[in-house]
Amino acid sequence: MTIVIKSKGDIDKMRIAGQLTGKVLRMIAEHVRVGVTTDELNDICHRYITETQDAIPAPLNYRGFPKSICTSVNDVVCHGIPGNKVLKNGDIVNIDITVIKDGWHGDSSKMFFIGKPPIRAQRLAEVAHDAMVLGIEMIKPGENLRNIGKAIQEYAESHHFSVVREYCGHGIGEVFHEAPQVLHYDSPHNNIILETGMVFTIEPMINAGKQHTRLMNDEWTVKTRDRSLSAQWEHTIAVTDDGFEVLTQLPGDPL
Ligand code: MF3
Ligand code: CO
Ligand code: CO
Repeated sequence: MTIVIKSKGDIDKMRIAGQLTGKVLRMIAEHVRVGVTTDELNDICHRYITETQDAIPAPLNYRGFPKSICTSVNDVVCHGIPGNKVLKNGDIVNIDITVIKDGWHGDSSKMFFIGKPPIRAQRLAEVAHDAMVLGIEMIKPGENLRNIGKAIQEYAESHHFSVVREYCGHGIGEVFHEAPQVLHYDSPHNNIILETGMVFTIEPMINAGKQHTRLMNDEWTVKTRDRSLSAQWEHTIAVTDDGFEVLTQLPGDPL
């Protein structure tokens, strides 16, 4: 599949979608507390995106996905479906937001702590975050995506964690998931030289135990096969002449 190169004007529109995405994550933070259900978080985000932002939550009805956001708790790797699950002290949860504005997508996710999770869970979230940042900071024209995947894998494994193989980052624009695939590990299938105007996500899923995953019967929820904890962070990034721009990073926020 060919990689769509975005113009300056396209990236201006993706920046708008990206900033809205970041604002949803900022808005929801105070609601992510002991006792809230993932359905309540979904509903708050849905209303904010559709009413306040006049935008579209991309997951809703995407290939049959039934909700507006993904909520992935503890051993859920990704694509958790909001429901009646009550968040409790010590849980870690990834909230993944994708917004469509004026036809363009922004896609970002982050980890939230409920009360005080065990140190090891906090450490997993931190390593997943730093793996994403390390990958983002390598982005520039002429860099090979393979080197980025390799660096992310080496970093995660140096902390004795593992990288999920079955799910990856992706090109994004007027289409939610488009070329290229962005693998978070070393692979000969990842040999792509970056060019100005490419836009894609980096979203490593890092497991405390083994890398393997299991798809649940709902056909969406992905868990670690060994029931170990999993953590993920995601940003949407544009390749620029002199490096990169993180479209989903709000001014003043750390990556
Ligand atoms: N936001 C996810 C990603 O980072 C995709 C979710 S697809 C859904 O690519 F259907 F589960 F929403
Ligand atoms: Co994504
Ligand atoms: Co996402």
